[in-house]
Amino acid sequence: MTSIIIFSSNNKTKFISKIIQEKIDAELVEIKDLNKKTGFLGNIKNNYNALRSNNTDIYPESIDLTNYDLIIIGSPSTFGGISPAISTFIEKNDFENKKIIIFTTTNSRQGYEVLKNMKNKLEKKNGIILNSFIMRVYNKSEEELKLNTLKIIKELDLDLYS
Ligand SMILES: Cc1cc2nc3c(=O)[nH]c(=O)nc-3n(C[C@H](O)[C@H](O)[C@H](O)COP(=O)(O)O)c2cc1C
Repeated sequence: MTSIIIFSSNNKTKFISKIIQEKIDAELVEIKDLNKKTGFLGNIKNNYNALRSNNTDIYPESIDLTNYDLIIIGSPSTFGGISPAISTFIEKNDFENKKIIIFTTTNSRQGYEVLKNMKNKLEKKNGIILNSFIMRVYNKSEEELKLNTLKIIKELDLDLYS
């Protein structure tokens, strides 16, 4: 069984994950950032946390990953880094010998840096990174995003593990 674990503030990462979930019959867990505030001041605080790569309070904080053959982790690119919610999730969970595929959604650049950071963090926890992908979402219709996601599913054989 595959588990897809994501954070998504504007639903793009979620949209892509739902397509993968349906196609390969995986479980989808959305990590919530409990400190994510809306409004002007809230945005400043969110951005500050993201810039500093600060950890945040999340829900769920941990998941028992023992019975999953594959874990797919997705995060929006956030100022060239991992979203605080996914960063916190990685720190708080056990990835020992887990097979993992990571991905990030971006508007423009910096996806590579995000994947590099995620890979480093997960390998420090003895996770095994099998593959990764970047999905550029800027100016793409849902139809285009869907087609691109279906292409990735095929290219990476994401259904191998289900
Ligand atoms: C606070 C913030 C910082 C962002 N930083 C970057 C960035 O550094 N590079 C990039 O390509 N996109 C950046 N983006 C765009 C998001 O990564 C992109 O829109 C992503 O797909 C959003 O995913 P979501 O809808 O699942 O939240 C940023 C978006 C936000 C809100």
